[in-house]
Amino acid sequence: MFVLAAAGSAVGLGNIWKFPYMAGDGGGGAFVLLYITCIALLGLPVMMSEVLLGRRGRSSPINTMRALAREEGRSTLWGLLGVMGMLAGFLILSFYSVIAGWTLAYVVEAASGSFAGISTQGVGELFNRLVGDPWRLMFWHTLFMVLTVSVILRGVRRGLEAAVRLLMPGLFVLIVAMVVYAVIAGDFLDGLKFLFAPDFSKITPDVALKAMGQAFFTLSLGMGAIMMYGSYLPEDASIASTSVQVALTDTLIAILAGLAIFPIVFANGLEAGQGPGLIFITLPLAFGHMPGGTLFGLLFFILLVFAAWTSAISLIEPAVAWMVERFSFTRIRASLFCGLIAWAIGVGTVLSFNHWPRIRLLDGTAFEGKSFFDLLDYLTSNIMLPLGGILICLFAAWVMGESSRRTELRITHPAVYALWRFLARYVAPLGVVLIFLHVLGMV
Ligand code: PFF
Repeated sequence: MFVLAAAGSAVGLGNIWKFPYMAGDGGGGAFVLLYITCIALLGLPVMMSEVLLGRRGRSSPINTMRALAREEGRSTLWGLLGVMGMLAGFLILSFYSVIAGWTLAYVVEAASGSFAGISTQGVGELFNRLVGDPWRLMFWHTLFMVLTVSVILRGVRRGLEAAVRLLMPGLFVLIVAMVVYAVIAGDFLDGLKFLFAPDFSKITPDVALKAMGQAFFTLSLGMGAIMMYGSYLPEDASIASTSVQVALTDTLIAILAGLAIFPIVFANGLEAGQGPGLIFITLPLAFGHMPGGTLFGLLFFILLVFAAWTSAISLIEPAVAWMVERFSFTRIRASLFCGLIAWAIGVGTVLSFNHWPRIRLLDGTAFEGKSFFDLLDYLTSNIMLPLGGILICLFAAWVMGESSRRTELRITHPAVYALWRFLARYVAPLGVVLIFLHVLGMV
């Protein structure tokens, strides 16, 4: 159950929508190299720490942190870590739902045959028509939020397991088929080179920050989602091997998505660094020209909606659980309340693709030229999640007593335990701090 729930949370728009455009923006190989390094050296130790705290605390992240801090005789201010995570969850869900809305809109486009024989210009127009129309975006954003809330108010466990069990293999098969199509019809070699031959001159502090942010975002780390699901893990299950399983699956799906997309991008002379629209421009072009593309495209966008759905649920579960615990809200009331807040913030993202392409109030600051969506994405992925991740590691590897963490992790192999402890104590926190300082120009 834990692996399914965690994989359902981890695999989502982050892998298929965000990873390719971030890699395209960040110069390809340079970004991918940093991203994989961050997954291994920061993501894995943070994930193990987060699961460890979640299994021990077995409640919402805020109360888990407070209870564990009390148990160790420390300040309950550690609960603030859960508060920051909850806030990050609202902010991420607010824009996640808008993008998932694009996916819903594309299900309808695929079903109505819009992709058949479409031209490079046609895909651009299709996408711009959608994002240029705030009312259409609002409609799909609202629909996706209703879907999310309707699952969360019934309690997440039911349905999630079955959805993920069907969804993951389905999505995997479809992406592999897309990669095969990219080999046949795309510039596969160029795509491969773009993703895996790093141009070291492209490694800048900014690319490092984005790769780190993407590693946290894609694995759902640093905000309590995985902590929440940690409570599903039975006492005798191994935290290390389940975490490795989830991280590997997630990374594999992202890389395959990249391999499916870039060969098409290059074969059609599209721009790799064009930003969030990348897959919505590239994939319809592929579906429009492959045999059986209409059905295939339809299936693909439906599965992507499901993948986004299982991730979205995990984004508000910590907040809903906390409201039920803290205010004795019914689950239904807490879910509606949380969904409404995230929906309202999402209106800003809807408008950032048409009426508010950038926030003028920020002119003259480092954020000049950023839209509301850019800002939320930057703030959550690049700052809040890594910050939450460091605090989680510091708590698990320093604050918690040696015997508590040893019993909880149950790693039988002493070398594996020592490796986790070293990564969680030093490498992950210092790595994040170093990247932060590097961006600020301080090192
Ligand atoms: N990991 C999800 C994705 O890759 O789409 C997004 C996400 C879900 C981020 C849950 C954070 C989170 F807590």
